[in-house]
Amino acid sequence: MNYQINTFEEYLEIYKYSIENPEGFWAEIASNFFWHKKWDKVLEWNFTEPEIKWFLNAKLNITENCLDRHLADGGEKTAIIWEPNNPDENVRKITYKQLYTDVCLFANVLKSNGAKKGDRICIYMPMIPELVIAMLACARIGAIHSVVFGGFSAKSIADRVEDAGCRMLITADGVYRGAKLLNLKGIVDEALINDNLIKKVIVFKNRGINIKMQTERDIWWHDEIEIATTDCKAEIMDSEDMLYILYTSGSTGKPKGVVHTCGGYMVYTAYTFSNVFQYKSNEIFFCTADIGWVTGHSYIVYGPLLSGATCLMFEGIPTYPDSGRLWEIVEKHKVNILYTAPTAIRSLMQAGTEFVRGKDLSSLSKLGSVGEPINEEAWHWYNENIGNSKCPIADTWWQTETGGILISPIAGISPTKPSYAMLPLPGIQPAIVNAQGEELFENNISGDLCIKFPWPGILRTTYNNHERCRTNYFETYKNMYYTGDGCLRDKDGFYRITGRADDVLKVSGHRIGTAEVENAIDLHHKVIESAVVGFPHHIKGQGIYAFVICNNENTDSDKLRTEIIDIVTKEIGSFAKPEKIQFVNGLPKTRSGKIMRRILRKIAEGETENLGDTTTLLDPTIVEEIKTGSLSLA
Ligand code: PRX
Repeated sequence: MNYQINTFEEYLEIYKYSIENPEGFWAEIASNFFWHKKWDKVLEWNFTEPEIKWFLNAKLNITENCLDRHLADGGEKTAIIWEPNNPDENVRKITYKQLYTDVCLFANVLKSNGAKKGDRICIYMPMIPELVIAMLACARIGAIHSVVFGGFSAKSIADRVEDAGCRMLITADGVYRGAKLLNLKGIVDEALINDNLIKKVIVFKNRGINIKMQTERDIWWHDEIEIATTDCKAEIMDSEDMLYILYTSGSTGKPKGVVHTCGGYMVYTAYTFSNVFQYKSNEIFFCTADIGWVTGHSYIVYGPLLSGATCLMFEGIPTYPDSGRLWEIVEKHKVNILYTAPTAIRSLMQAGTEFVRGKDLSSLSKLGSVGEPINEEAWHWYNENIGNSKCPIADTWWQTETGGILISPIAGISPTKPSYAMLPLPGIQPAIVNAQGEELFENNISGDLCIKFPWPGILRTTYNNHERCRTNYFETYKNMYYTGDGCLRDKDGFYRITGRADDVLKVSGHRIGTAEVENAIDLHHKVIESAVVGFPHHIKGQGIYAFVICNNENTDSDKLRTEIIDIVTKEIGSFAKPEKIQFVNGLPKTRSGKIMRRILRKIAEGETENLGDTTTLLDPTIVEEIKTGSLSLA
């Protein structure tokens, strides 16, 4: 049985079986892949340490399942359709056979430059097929890729390289994103100024811009390919060997390296891809995410390739050359399944339906949404204007840590409801718990969302710091994985994710920790202390609001604002810039010195009335002052 779901009755039946017999369920799904050796045991786990192992002692290489396995019957099928940033440039279509050859070639380049199984390799690349090739080449030789989103700053790359102990970095000279030319290699050079870990930087010539190559360290992709051979045997990996690290923000400190392993991640991404989107072999799937985030890892690279799908990859941005670009791409390539983010939908909705008018979107049959709660207005606009009210919308809820989709409608099979992620996929056991950690079993309730049983795609650790993994996800509620999200279950048992319950923000779908932004702001020599919260933003979902205490010498607040924004851009990236900065004389703190963020959140939301009990504050008068100050920013 491959447990492909075809009807809602089947979903109910399979769900029931998956809960009663999870090991049998996942073992049968896993049997559909190519393993060098099958597992001795399906699952061993505890959520206390935590220790989670799937398909114990099984041996595989994920790239053989993404590529080699498809060659006999589907070698000539297009694996990747690449749409360039500039619509006048050429589209690239890469078959499974070509991708296989390119991956083997580049895997040999990695090897001949000293990379081996277990090494960590940082990838900082634009949205071009070579990014996919680089990732798969790492996986081919058993190296662990750590992809860093192209919008991150030099400092962020440096931190990630150091944390993962990367010895090699793969990048490109530059890229156009919209009308803007970015010098990626220049950013990498800056990141590596004080680095002595990276021995090799492999540079793909993408735009032919003028860059500096450091002798010995920097080598050209095309030079290396020329001398490489195409024959590259896949490294045999244990099911629980690491496949990749992906850094993500939490509520405290620095971003953490979420670790996914080979066997479980493979089974989970493929299963969820083919079921949620009901992928059929002739369909074209277009995921607009960036591969620098988990959505791109799971649903541009691994999920689709494992399923032998044709995936469209887009280099540019939805608003270039104009706000009709995504619809133009759908029309041009006759896309069948579109998977995008609420922020993109809201911004294109605001641009107006004139950009949709006249575009032939009739090829579309299924739609998806991911990354943040989708508001009802955006859901309806997407449904009516893009889906022509005939395409089911899968509002897929999941996280970097979950590896793949956990709660979502199954497109065209299970019911949908605007802004609801609806029902758990087979194998997923959600629990809504109250503040005391008790599971709430009834419907029509809300609380913190937890998952009480492992699934193959769950994170195994946070790189080099297992304790952080335990405290972040497994300590808050006993024997449960805590998601950090708030959730309600309505009277019919359908789930709606209400947003983060911790200090993590979702700005345009990008995950940002308030502590990270505060740490960056606090680096300014005039800043004494800062507190960052989110506020509702009509396009970005959330915007960043910073309350900042400065020393008295501050006279030019506009200049200071600009300097603070520059620091955040330099430390994290421009996507983490505060939208609003309010200078204050103090912050609402309890007597023990804890900032009452609840009050700041309300003020940032423009709610100045019901601020709740402020009598326990060290200095209640500060609240009035902040309230008054906030009005001038509104
Ligand atoms: O708050 C939830 C929100 O995004 C968080 C995970 O972010 P990240 O690790 O960057 O992964 C994004 C891509 C999966 C979650 O904790 N989120 C994600 N999808 C949804 C969502 N919130 C509501 N509805 C969704 N469909």
